[in-house]
Amino acid sequence: MVRGSCIRARIERHQALGFISSFGKRLINTIIIAVPLPYQSCHKRMSSSPIDPALDSKAAAKAALAAAEARFIANNPLSKKQHDLAVCSLPGGNTRTLLHTSPFPLCMKQGKGAYVWDEDGHKYLDLTGELSAGLYGHSHPVIRSTILSTFDNVGVSLGATTAQEQRYAALLCDRFKLDRVRMTNTGTEANLHALAAARHYTGCRQVVVFAGGYHGAVLSFPSRREPLPNLVDKPDFIVLDSYNDSELAAVQIEDRSGKIAAVLVEGMQGAGGCIPASRHFLHAVQDAAHRAGALFILDEVMTSRLAPHGLGASLGLKPDLVTMGKYLGGGFAFGALGGRANVMAVYDPRVEGSLAHSGTFNNNTMAMHAGYTGLSEIFTPEVCVEFNAKGDELRKELAELAEGSRLSVTGLGTLMTLHFTEDGNKEILDVGDVKRKERGDFRDLFWFEMLEEGFWITRRGYIAMILDTPDEDIGIFLNAVKGFLKRHEGIMRVV
Ligand SMILES: Cc1ncc(COP(=O)(O)O)c(C=O)c1O
Repeated sequence: MVRGSCIRARIERHQALGFISSFGKRLINTIIIAVPLPYQSCHKRMSSSPIDPALDSKAAAKAALAAAEARFIANNPLSKKQHDLAVCSLPGGNTRTLLHTSPFPLCMKQGKGAYVWDEDGHKYLDLTGELSAGLYGHSHPVIRSTILSTFDNVGVSLGATTAQEQRYAALLCDRFKLDRVRMTNTGTEANLHALAAARHYTGCRQVVVFAGGYHGAVLSFPSRREPLPNLVDKPDFIVLDSYNDSELAAVQIEDRSGKIAAVLVEGMQGAGGCIPASRHFLHAVQDAAHRAGALFILDEVMTSRLAPHGLGASLGLKPDLVTMGKYLGGGFAFGALGGRANVMAVYDPRVEGSLAHSGTFNNNTMAMHAGYTGLSEIFTPEVCVEFNAKGDELRKELAELAEGSRLSVTGLGTLMTLHFTEDGNKEILDVGDVKRKERGDFRDLFWFEMLEEGFWITRRGYIAMILDTPDEDIGIFLNAVKGFLKRHEGIMRVV
């Protein structure tokens, strides 16, 4: 069967089952007429049996989850084998905690465009998008040619300043409205150096952050009460429970006037569950930080891709410092901090007493060139707007599917999280709204079954879309979610 007819047959099968939404149908019609698909799609159908309605929701979920996990084990022997090898040299077989999943993680072998393949040969639509860093997909031709030409004509690691780092710095300053910028290797480092700058500039040590905030491996604040054991400079952080509560947050910040170096906040808590802050809240925090004599630092490591000049600019914010990273390395390790010239001057090595900010790979040639190419040639402001509109549409469709169920969807543009809560609460304003009622069993069941359907998604339900993901596949994903909710109606319906 030729590709077009194979796909059409599959779509007709889904339509016959009544699964494809209006968005999906519209997208599919467009794609079939206009765009020949570049791959032989092979999303797998799964075969879970419906839940016995007599069982209560916990027992029913437990039974479905056990069955899904058993199928996962049976379907993925080579991933399991790889995991068994990995535990011999990596603690728990892992070097990136987020990627550990029980009973063992799927081991990916290859990525191409918006797809990944695991060791057992299954193909997935990549909805994880490398936690937002994978914006360009796995093999973008423009990035590819930049990488090859950088390697051939520039070389790796020159151990010196280069014209390219100036070019990329100028582009970042122009695009994200920064006076000055410095590069790092990760978003974590960008935040650590931003905090060091704020401390040096203000002479204070304490920093206000919000519960649910994630600013890096050693800067994670899942809740106010339990600081993580690996939190750096633990006594220096004041963790507030008032994300999205403008009045309370402003009072709590101003109460600390003259004692805090910075308020560090995400415009949308990404790792915390893609929970957007309101414009009102962010302005209240910015103003309160300034009244308290502190710097306002906006962590845009995830959110800079949501609007042409970053989320902060789209909301009219004027942060003293901004931190960034992820996709801005064009697929290579990257981070950056930038902002007001007089604050960034703390890193001016010509000034006596300035701070050192070293890092062997800060200006590595690969990231400087690939990042520059990505931002200047691929992810232009126009593409950014169009791409995020697609994400908005997907979230809208998901929210419609989720009505009356325990599923809810939060996020902005192309970044989103699917939550499963006991009461199906759709008004999620802070991490407490999720944590108090989250159903880990439903979330896990969804994850196992989406894998079976051919969707690579994070277990926590986070999705970061990849540029050029075919609309048809998004329609099929919507269909799979609808199928999941229908298959498990007995436990998914809010009663
Ligand atoms: C908002 C935010 N800040 C900082 C970081 C840390 O970035 P990295 O993983 O590059 O250290 C992340 C990573 O997910 C993030 O989402």
